[in-house]
Order: sequence, then C-alpha cells, then structure tokens
Amino acid sequence: MRLPPELLDAIQQETEKIDRRRLLHAATELTEHYQAADFSTPAIASSAHRAAYLAVRLPATYAATRRVFSEINLRSPGSEITSLLDLGSGPGTALWAAAEEFSSLQRATLIEADEHWLHMGKSLAEFTGASLPQAQWLRQDLRSGFSCERHDLVVISYTLGELPRSSAEETLRKAWKCAGRFLAVIEPGTRRGFATVLSARSLLLEHGAAILAPCPHVEACPMAAAGDWCHFSQRIERTSQHRQLKGGALGYEDEKFSYVIAAKEPAVVNGARIVRHPGKHSGHVQLALCTPEGRLENRTVTRSNKSAYKLARKAEWGDLWP
Ligand SMILES: C[S@@+](CC[C@H](N)C(=O)[O-])C[C@H]1O[C@@H](n2cnc3c(N)ncnc32)[C@H](O)[C@@H]1O
Repeated sequence: MRLPPELLDAIQQETEKIDRRRLLHAATELTEHYQAADFSTPAIASSAHRAAYLAVRLPATYAATRRVFSEINLRSPGSEITSLLDLGSGPGTALWAAAEEFSSLQRATLIEADEHWLHMGKSLAEFTGASLPQAQWLRQDLRSGFSCERHDLVVISYTLGELPRSSAEETLRKAWKCAGRFLAVIEPGTRRGFATVLSARSLLLEHGAAILAPCPHVEACPMAAAGDWCHFSQRIERTSQHRQLKGGALGYEDEKFSYVIAAKEPAVVNGARIVRHPGKHSGHVQLALCTPEGRLENRTVTRSNKSAYKLARKAEWGDLWP
C-alpha cells in the first residue's frame, strides 16, 4: 500500500516549512513518545511535531485505517458509504483513506480539539482541491460532549486510547448513536491498544451492535482469555524522507493495529479470521484461526487438499478463511 500521490505532495509541502534539524528532532521525540505509549503529556506540542507526524506517523495510521475500511467493502459489498464522521481527526487521515476506499463518499465531518490540526488538515485537503469529498472541519473537545448528525460510517482512529476512560465510554455511546451503518475503532496493535478495542467491543455489544470484523462471532474474545492480544499488520511503502527521519533502511514499514467494526445490521458470518502470519512451509500451511464459535484453532492445510492448499498459500494474516 502507498499514500495517494496528492497527499504525498501535500505532506512534502507542509514539512518543507520546518527546518530539517527541528523536523528530525521532533520526529525522534514523537517516535519515542508513541513507543513509550505515554499519554499523560501531549505528544504533539509544536508545529515541528505536527509536521513530523505527517511524515512519520500519518503513513502508518493511513495504512491501518484504509485496511480497516477495506474490510467494510469485503464483508459488506455494495455498502455505498456516502458520509463519514471522524472523531479525533488530526490531519484528516481517515478522510484520505475513506476517499480512496469508498468511491461513493460524498461528505465528511471531522471533529478535532486542536485548532492547529484543523488548520493543517484543511490545508492538506485544499492542496489538491478536487479529489476529496466535501468536508466540514469542527473544533470540538470529545471530553465535553459533541454534536453530530447521522453518518453512514463513524471512525475513531488512534484517539480513543488518549481519552480518559469515562470520556472514552461516553464518546463511544454517542458515536454509536451517530453511526448510520458502521462504527470503526482503530488503535495501535499493542496490548494497551487492544485493551481499548476490547472494551469498546464489549460496550458496543451491550448496545446491540453486530460485529462486522475482525471477530467472526460475538462471544468473549478467546485471545484475551489466552492472555494474548488480537492485532494485525499492514505494510506501507516508505518515502525517502520517512527513511531519513526514522533512520531505517527498509523501503516499507509494517504498522501493527487492533480494530473493531460494529454494524447496525447483523453481519453474515462466512469464515474464520486468520489471527497470525500463516506458516507457509513446503507441502503444508499452518493457520491460526479465530472461529465463528469463538474459539482459537490451529489448522494445517496440506498439499493433498488441492483447493484448500491453493487458497492457504495465498492467505494473509487478517484475511477470512472460508
Ligand atoms: C494520534 S492522533 C490520531 C489522528 C488521526 N485520527 C490519525 O489516525 O492519524 C489523535 C488525535 O486525537 C485528537 N484528540 C485527542 N483528544 C481529543 C479530544 N478530547 N477531543 C478531540 N480530539 C482529541 C488529538 O488532537 C489528535 O489529533
């Protein structure tokens, strides 16, 4: 996966406004902050941090968000998502991902507490003009409540875990009311991020939600019961600027993320979820599955089962196994 070229150009334009050494320093601070998962102090404290976020974090959150949105297209084809509400939008990452994933998207509302992010998000979106749907950028603090109309899809990406627990629950309840069809919660693929997603899943189930993905069931999470955490991985191409700022040599980055998509309509269960990298060996493939019965199961698919083996060779972590 790669960022849309217009977004890459817009990011380049924004980051060029910041002195290179300041940008490098801010990128290092930001990476350390997210690695420490310390949300007691704000990660973004300056224009250099915001520019660094665009260069080193946005590609990863974009990749995770787009991958999650692609599950809606896969699991509920023909959904025709026409409106998006993004809570804690930052620079509008989800808007770019949704515009790529849903050709039906006509309008978006983005809610964000930080006026600098709103300004930067608008500036990125206006850089190209035409390719994004009509967007309304609103300055509101999720902790003090927010007003929203119904939107087909509501997303809270990499934000819920930054809110105090009571505000997070209230935000979810409100988000669920505003969701016409789907609510997607996305967090880093860490134990902490997964715990946030798992709590969100429980609360949404209590409110009558169906689960579209990743769980093929509404039972208690078997990975949590096993002391594990459910997460996935999405590869995104790195730009040379990204490599320089993060000091890595690889041409790509793998973003680990946890997520849940709640749906208003019951979801059709058509397979188990592959919850680890498939082990692809000579003559057999090992799959770790979360099944529609809510159990973890290891399955070995051998060459003797021709059609299943062909499918298993192509299967990826996070796919559904029919
Ligand atoms: C890690 S960033 C994620 C941005 C974007 N969703 C993404 O995936 O790239 C978290 C965002 O949530 C916003 N945020 C945090 N607390 C908030 C609150 N109480 N109300 C509104 N926005 C908030 C921050 O300002 C920041 O833009």
